Amino acid sequence: MKNWYDGFVQRYVGLKARSYDKSRFGNVKKAIVDKKEKETILKILQQKKIKRILDVACGTGRIQIYLKRKGYKVVGMDFSVDMLSILKSKERGALVVRGDAKTLPFKDEFFDCLVSFHFVRHLPNYLEILKEMKRVVKKNGYIILDFPNRKSVTGYVTRMRQFIGKIGHCNLLTKSNIYSISHMLNLTIEDLFPIFFISPIWTPLRYIKIVEGIERKLMQKNIFIGFGYIFVVCFKK
Ligand SMILES: C[S@@+](CC[C@H](N)C(=O)[O-])C[C@H]1O[C@@H](n2cnc3c(N)ncnc32)[C@H](O)[C@@H]1O
Repeated sequence: MKNWYDGFVQRYVGLKARSYDKSRFGNVKKAIVDKKEKETILKILQQKKIKRILDVACGTGRIQIYLKRKGYKVVGMDFSVDMLSILKSKERGALVVRGDAKTLPFKDEFFDCLVSFHFVRHLPNYLEILKEMKRVVKKNGYIILDFPNRKSVTGYVTRMRQFIGKIGHCNLLTKSNIYSISHMLNLTIEDLFPIFFISPIWTPLRYIKIVEGIERKLMQKNIFIGFGYIFVVCFKK
C-alpha cells in the first residue's frame, strides 16, 4: 500500500504536474465534473459565514482559484512544488504553502473551513489525515470533502477495475461509512450531496444533456441519494 502511495505522489512532479489540468479536466466531459464539484462547494459555502479557507492538496489550484475569485480568502497547501508553481503562474496573489497533509503546517483551529478534493480517496490512512484536518479547523468550523460511493454504478465498476489491476488504491465508501467516520471523529454531517449517478466520462457526448437532466430529477428524491456516484460532504466540528 505504501508503495502505491509513493507512486501517487510521483504523479504530481515535473512534466506530469504540467499535464495535470489538461489530463484531468481538459475535455467537455471532464469539465462537467469540474463544474459540478465547484458549484456544489460554493452552494455549501454560501449558506455559512466563512472567511478563511484551507485547500488541502490544492494541486494546481482548481478549487482554490475558483473560491478566491468568488471572494474567499483561501490558502492552498500541497506537497508538490511543481503543482504549486503552476498554481502561482495561473493566479497572481494566490496564497500557497508547501506541506504534508500528515502534519499540516498550521496552528490549531486556524481556519473557518477546510476543503480537499480528489485527495482523501487516494489515501490508505485517510482517518489519520482527517484527524489532522480537524485539528486546524475552528470549533463550529467545516470540512468539505468528496468521497466516491461504493454502492454506485461507477463504484461497482471501479471495484472491478481494481480487481483486475487496472487502477490503484481508491477509498470507496457508502453513505453509512461516511456517518461512521463522522461518529469516530466526533464531527456532525451538515450537508451530504450526491453528484452524478453515472460518471459523465462514460456517457456518450450526444446524450450528456439528457442524462444530466434525468440525474437532476433523481437527486431530488431522497431514496436515490445513497446511490450517487460522488458524495460531497460537509462535516461540522
Ligand atoms: C489528484 S490531485 C488533486 C488536486 C486538487 N485538489 C484538485 O481537485 O484538482 C492530488 C494532489 O495531492 C497532492 N498530495 C499528495 N500527497 C500529499 C500530501 N501528503 N500532502 C499534501 N499534498 C499531497 C499531490 O501533490 C496532488 O497535487
